[in-house]
Amino acid sequence: MAPSLKFAVLLMLLGLANASSINQGFSHCEKIVKSWAISSSEQEIKEDKHTLRDLLFFLHIPRTGGRTYFHCFLKKLYSNYEECPRSYDKLRFNPSKQKCRLLVTHDDYSMMSKLPKEKTSVVTILRNPIDRIFSTYEFSIEVAARFLVHPNLTSATKMSGRLRSKTRGVSTLDIWPWKYLVPWMREDLFARRDTRKIRGSNDVKSYNPYEMEEFVKPLHEYINDPIAHDIIHNGATYQIAGLTNNSYFMEAHEVRKCVHKYKALGNDVLEVAKRRLDDMLYVGLTEDHKESATMFAHVVGAQVISQALALNVSADNVADDKSGQSSLVSDSKHDEDDDHQNDSSDQKANEVSSTDDMDGKNENITVEKLMDAYGDCISSLRKTQTRRRINSLKRITPANFSKEDRLKVPEVVLEQIRSLNDLDLELYKYAQDIFAKQHKLTMQKLVNRGGLKNMVPSWRVLALGTPFVILVLVLYNVVKARRRTWKVKI
Ligand SMILES: *[C@@H]1O[C@H](CO)[C@@H](O)[C@H](O)[C@H]1NC(C)=O
Ligand SMILES: *[C@@H]1O[C@H](CO)[C@@H](O)[C@H](O)[C@H]1NC(C)=O
Ligand SMILES: *[C@@H]1O[C@H](CO)[C@@H](O)[C@H](O)[C@H]1NC(C)=O
Ligand SMILES: *[C@@H]1O[C@H](CO)[C@@H](O)[C@H](O)[C@H]1NC(C)=O
Ligand SMILES: *[C@@H]1O[C@H](CO)[C@@H](O)[C@H](O)[C@H]1NC(C)=O
Ligand SMILES: *[C@@H]1O[C@H](CO)[C@@H](O)[C@H](O)[C@H]1NC(C)=O
Repeated sequence: MAPSLKFAVLLMLLGLANASSINQGFSHCEKIVKSWAISSSEQEIKEDKHTLRDLLFFLHIPRTGGRTYFHCFLKKLYSNYEECPRSYDKLRFNPSKQKCRLLVTHDDYSMMSKLPKEKTSVVTILRNPIDRIFSTYEFSIEVAARFLVHPNLTSATKMSGRLRSKTRGVSTLDIWPWKYLVPWMREDLFARRDTRKIRGSNDVKSYNPYEMEEFVKPLHEYINDPIAHDIIHNGATYQIAGLTNNSYFMEAHEVRKCVHKYKALGNDVLEVAKRRLDDMLYVGLTEDHKESATMFAHVVGAQVISQALALNVSADNVADDKSGQSSLVSDSKHDEDDDHQNDSSDQKANEVSSTDDMDGKNENITVEKLMDAYGDCISSLRKTQTRRRINSLKRITPANFSKEDRLKVPEVVLEQIRSLNDLDLELYKYAQDIFAKQHKLTMQKLVNRGGLKNMVPSWRVLALGTPFVILVLVLYNVVKARRRTWKVKI
């Protein structure tokens, strides 16, 4: 055979072998993904999803603003002793042992395997995927930049480890996905600082903070890193499907890897996530913040209040509050602001946010009072967050992120974010539909006084007696007062 012919035959053989192994890989993956999808949808359809069950599971997708719901709603509705204890050792976590009623966590839907499913209501908030990616990028840099107070990476890592073991507090660094994203960016920031020192100059080629490679990892590099593929892109879909990098299911990792490899299989994951959203008690949207908060107060808040009345949560129980406090740790309490940095300005910020915690549960709270308290709480929380962000980003001046700067990001990069988050874009659209329907339904129920009773199970109505009548009257007055605004919103 002529050498060129030999070569051609060899190529053909290689091509065949390759094609068959690809096929095998695909059919193997297809089988894995499909059987996961079938077993995930076998779970019984919940016919009564509008009623709050005994346990509320807040599936907190990172960077959707869930923390404000935790601090400004749930902390006012539930006592500390009602929060589920959270151990970072997954094997020891056993909430069924506790009589807890509230779980807020970044853990994904696979957490349900550890919860009494028929007694659990799930709620979540979704955000426009592009904004969520921007926010994830900025926040991982923001938290990492706080470590730049230290002279070098070794001492930064050592000090933060020592501080964490001393305070025994839960820091952002203990929480998925930040436990991967922050150290990654921390290492990166220190490396860039060292390079600047060696070069002896702080000059930048570009004033666009998303491309300021002398100071921070540029956005386009960040989104293309394997770590971002592992834990950021399509993160909302994976979290709701229970397939994150942090999943409790061992097979989740194989399913996820298959979907990464063969994009076509993503549709099965998307369908499971959509069905789960359908079954949730509440789905909020970060973008429609006012409507989302109002709806949360009326759908979730009102039911927590009536449930507490029905369960006759007495003042005696609340007195136990302090003794149990230290062992009860919910992720979100510490997420996004408490990383125990030794920085005086941060210390002050922590004090501000901890006074929010002190408010605690108000025994005679109504939906109306809840909304008022929420308004005050959120503005103080936002001030704290802004201050912390400014203090932190100061350390990487001139890099500073703003909404206007986001407009400078080239279309190519945005297009890439969209493509990497195709499932999340679809899921977000779906969530917008659910939200619109839920919003309409809630407002109808509230406006129609008779319909309001449907939001509370009948046995509770009987047990509630007088307090319930008062609640109805209060709600009715709220409705009357706000009717005009709602008409506009619907
Ligand atoms: C890092 O900083 C600490 C504290 O200043 C110092 O003791 C240590 O030698 C430094 N390490 C390196 C590798 O420069
Ligand atoms: C999760 O992602 C991180 C970052 O890419 C990686 O280090 C870790 O090994 C992953 N864990 C699993 C179970 O895949
Ligand atoms: C509710 O709690 C109060 C005080 O703790 C108690 O006196 C009362 O009997 C309880 N009512 C019911 C129905 O359990
Ligand atoms: C924190 O900072 C203060 C001074 O601002 C200092 O006295 C203290 O030793 C520091 N603590 C740690 C753990 O670095
Ligand atoms: C809550 O209401 C009860 C009676 O319904 C009343 O005795 C109690 O003082 C009220 N507590 C507060 C803090 O308003
Ligand atoms: C960064 O931008 C914010 C406003 O977006 C501003 O308040 C802050 O002072 C800026 N920080 C620096 C160091 O320029």
